[in-house]
Amino acid sequence: MVYSSPDAVDFSLADCPSLPRPGRVVLTTPTHFDVEYVINPHMSNNVGQVNKAVAFQQWKALRAAYTALDVEPIVATGQSGLPDMVFCANQTFPYYDPDTNTHGVVLSRMHANERTPEVPYYADFFKQQGFEIQRLPEDLDADFEGMGDAIWHPARRVVWGGYGFRTTPEAYEALSDRLDAPVMLLRLTDPDFYHLDTCFCPLNEDTVLIAAEAFDESGRALIDRFFDTVIEAPDEEARHQFACNAHCPNGTHVLIQEGCDQTNRRLRAHGFRPVELDTSEFLKSGGSVFCMKQMIW
Ligand code: ARG
Repeated sequence: MVYSSPDAVDFSLADCPSLPRPGRVVLTTPTHFDVEYVINPHMSNNVGQVNKAVAFQQWKALRAAYTALDVEPIVATGQSGLPDMVFCANQTFPYYDPDTNTHGVVLSRMHANERTPEVPYYADFFKQQGFEIQRLPEDLDADFEGMGDAIWHPARRVVWGGYGFRTTPEAYEALSDRLDAPVMLLRLTDPDFYHLDTCFCPLNEDTVLIAAEAFDESGRALIDRFFDTVIEAPDEEARHQFACNAHCPNGTHVLIQEGCDQTNRRLRAHGFRPVELDTSEFLKSGGSVFCMKQMIW
């Protein structure tokens, strides 16, 4: 089932099956990362502006941050000619069934033609990891950009699904059927927040960090219905420093672009521990921590 306003929701999180926290992280080498085309507003004026040596250092610091938090990195190899492949959250949507110990991914159908050839590389990568590979129905006319737009609610079999710029809402009916999980639909209204992960970062089962400007009224009402605590990042930090493209792998530490001072103050006030990382080269492409990793079980 797909829900787009709280009125239709007749269950609570406690009614939904629990889901363990994923413990491993996929990271993709940035050797071929660059800004070569413009498919989101952050990329304009940045074509050819990436410092590759700096990007590689920033990526290594991200990898080290996961290792330091005991999250095991599994490294995929970026391919020449695919400058956005480093954003490994976008080509797949991982799932896990604890009852049957089934690991799998649903493959994305990229909205951006430039990024379509990234998907088969990840299909092979996850096949080699022993994952089940699922595709959306052949005859379904829909775009789907994986965990750029679809995000598991922490600890519960519930999916949050953003649409409006990349993923189309039709994809979520199919995803919900495939995974037997309800999808909470959030319409994205501001092109700077073109993927759900640019404006919506669940930190734990009760708490989410959001960019309030990115949502319409029913979306906001759905968020308020399911999270007891909604931390708002200031517009400036969310829009230009990708404060909400952060990641909380363990319920406490929040890996976040450095310099999001007000956001960090708000996170600390709720007991979280910001871990600041510089992802400035990747911001030039419209990405930061959340989309540079894919958590798997
Ligand atoms: N240049 C990439 C694109 O526009 C950046 C993707 C960042 N990923 C994300 N989930 N926000 O597709």
